[in-house]
Amino acid sequence: MCAFYENGDKIKKGDIALYNNKSVRVLISKHIKENKTMDIVLEELETNKQYKINVPYKTYINTLKKSNTMGSEVEKGYECKPKTLDPNKPIMHYKNIIYICVDKRCSIAGSNKKADELRELLKSMDLDRGKDRIKISKSLCFGACRYKQVANIFSNTQTNGNIKHNNIWLSATHKYNLKKWEELFLDLKNDKELNNFKQINMKVY
Ligand code: FES
Repeated sequence: MCAFYENGDKIKKGDIALYNNKSVRVLISKHIKENKTMDIVLEELETNKQYKINVPYKTYINTLKKSNTMGSEVEKGYECKPKTLDPNKPIMHYKNIIYICVDKRCSIAGSNKKADELRELLKSMDLDRGKDRIKISKSLCFGACRYKQVANIFSNTQTNGNIKHNNIWLSATHKYNLKKWEELFLDLKNDKELNNFKQINMKVY
């Protein structure tokens, strides 16, 4: 059982939403079997203030609108796609961006769902927003399929990025478990050398 946003999407733990026009994260979305209700706990992103809502199963909560991390309401069925496009809205800051290949050969070795899994991990580490944000983007074939699920890191040296993390090509990320990704994300956040991550060499031919 579940409760719903006003647009009809299910309310899930970890979602970002607008509650009375404030950006919040859904900390808990839990059934209470005894009285067939849902407990929803929200936390304001700016202040950490918490709100608890209790509603009967299958309630549509009109004061809760699913949004993306930039505070724009999203289309039904989407995590990020805004309902209305504002051409003047800046893009969201990131310290590092990782392009992960989800084309055929890399997906067979790893997973075509990898970007979604990594975005969830970043949310749980609070690195999906703020000054140390890591952005994950999907890429088609880099022409380096022999290195399996190839990932390419760029650092935003225009602001707080680290030049040593620029143009890093990671090899065999299909072998990484979530713990390994977590280690990588922390090293990027803390400006550490990426010595524990096998990289692809480049050569002029
Ligand atoms: S399919 Fe990923 S590099 Fe070619």
